Amino acid sequence: MSEPISFYEQVGGMDTFRRLVDAFYRGVAEDEVLKPMYPEEDLGPAAERLTLFLAQYWGGPTTYSENRGHPRLRMRHNPFHVDPDARDRWLRHMRAAVDEIALPPALEAPLWDYLERAAHAMVNTFEPRGIGPTSDGRTGTGLPIRSAD
Ligand code: HEM
Repeated sequence: MSEPISFYEQVGGMDTFRRLVDAFYRGVAEDEVLKPMYPEEDLGPAAERLTLFLAQYWGGPTTYSENRGHPRLRMRHNPFHVDPDARDRWLRHMRAAVDEIALPPALEAPLWDYLERAAHAMVNTFEPRGIGPTSDGRTGTGLPIRSAD
């Protein structure tokens, strides 16, 4: 019996994930809150990581884990101030990107459902910006967050 066709293949493979993530990062590039969070000025490498992660998640090639190891996404987002505002901005750009790739509704629904749930799960602070960890590991208030500091 042949293998059931993966979601990755149903939506059109790597090309579709690239178009989705490229559209998403066009929004991020213009976002005054999200753009400064990215450690690299060039968003290209970050776009490549998100593309490969999503492709792998939906049953495509496992290149993401071959390059980056276990995703551990919550942990990898710890250095960034992901508050509800950042989440809503992330989702707004992703919504525009999902609209742009115009998948059939039966495919778009599970993709969007996953992205929305994942974005809610990524929130790691309810503090205003400037308080809590920053991307270089310092605390925004100057208060130590670990006694070993
Ligand atoms: C909720 C708001 C979110 C914000 C503000 C955010 C922000 C960021 C930032 C600043 C980075 C570092 C860029 C890099 O060097 O790769 C990053 C990495 C990444 N994000 Fe997010 N993210 C969010 C949600 C998500 C969600 C929902 C997913 C998955 C569905 C995701 C998947 C990834 C992946 C795969 C990486 C690269 C991890 C690595 O291999 O290092 N992010 N994100």
